[in-house]
Amino acid sequence: MLSSKIAGIGKYLPSNVVTNQDLTAHMETSDEWIVERTGIKERRYAHRTEETTTTMAVEAAKIAIERAGTTAADIDFIVFATLSPDYYFPGCGVLVQRAMGMKEIGALDIRNQCSGFVYALSVADQFIKTGMYKNILVIGSEKHSFGLDFSTRGRNVSVIFGDGAGAVVLQPATNAGQGILSTHLHSDGEAAEILAMYNPGTHANHWGEYANFDEAEIGQMFMSHNMIDSAQNFPFMDGPSVFKKAIVKFPEVILEALQTNGYGPSDLNMLIPHQANLRIAQFVQQKLGLNDEQVYNNIMLYGNTTAASVPIALCEAYEKNLIKEGDLVCLAAFGSGFTWASALIKW
Ligand SMILES: CC(C)(COP(=O)(O)OP(=O)(O)OC[C@H]1O[C@@H](n2cnc3c(N)ncnc32)[C@H](O)[C@@H]1OP(=O)(O)O)[C@@H](O)C(=O)NCCC(=O)NCCS
Repeated sequence: MLSSKIAGIGKYLPSNVVTNQDLTAHMETSDEWIVERTGIKERRYAHRTEETTTTMAVEAAKIAIERAGTTAADIDFIVFATLSPDYYFPGCGVLVQRAMGMKEIGALDIRNQCSGFVYALSVADQFIKTGMYKNILVIGSEKHSFGLDFSTRGRNVSVIFGDGAGAVVLQPATNAGQGILSTHLHSDGEAAEILAMYNPGTHANHWGEYANFDEAEIGQMFMSHNMIDSAQNFPFMDGPSVFKKAIVKFPEVILEALQTNGYGPSDLNMLIPHQANLRIAQFVQQKLGLNDEQVYNNIMLYGNTTAASVPIALCEAYEKNLIKEGDLVCLAAFGSGFTWASALIKW
């Protein structure tokens, strides 16, 4: 069976740098609190009106396509991961297809939040393996800054997230033993609501206050003043519970990837963990006994960019020549759902 390889990779970060100090203008927080709890020093915010999740994705995709030595016309499938799409529907995949003037190829959107890119990579990998497609554009892109509560009420969430995009082009591997060795996908929906954005959504009957609405009022069940007043249109996160689960599932799914392929942590040249929180990444590093050269972190500069964080970090490590041909690279992510995933790659 064919295996797939990352033939080109690109990233895009908006130019607008927002420091922790900048956030203190809107909410009660401090640089000290944010750095100590998360490691984040600054993040990027997209231009409010001129940049969207899709425009950032297109910029990252152009670089990935060029580095893969191909053209937009040769892309035969798009897989797009995001939790902050331009529209509730349709998804961003078709917007990329339109913006890049691509043929009438398939476009699939993935809704797996922080693990979205690794899930997307796994889906694309299967299509390459079966021989169905030969040039798949896989994207993770987020514009969080448009949907965060910047008042003190939302500070535990809003200080963490940032904007950006990363993209890769997946092609059939040319050398035996090269490329994606395996991918591993998991979920546990038991605690789905502890890291979630509840509205707009179609669950409103679960919220008793709307039970007696008649047909004419249904529109208000989807998006009501009360929902906005009570911040249900912003992400909710029980941070400590997310932390506890993440530090168990991250090492587990990394070891699963290594052991499946007959490797151990010491064989790893580079771990690219989803940039959720520097303290989580450091815990994982310690638990697996990895040294500083084996793990790449850039959350300090970009915050948590959810589906974009793994391809941005992978791209940055690649651009710094920290990943060379033949290296063993593991991508791993954990997030809302919960969902978690890993991919082991022989670069
Ligand atoms: C979010 C997170 C940094 C919060 O850190 P924590 O040590 O768990 O802090 P808590 O939520 O218990 O809050 C501690 C205190 O800090 C306050 N606080 C929360 N956000 C704050 C902020 N931005 N600035 C200052 N104080 C803040 C809280 O109100 C609370 O105050 P109190 O003790 O007076 O009630 C941490 O839980 C975390 O990183 N969790 C994982 C989140 C994550 O990775 N999410 C992405 C998933 S992929």
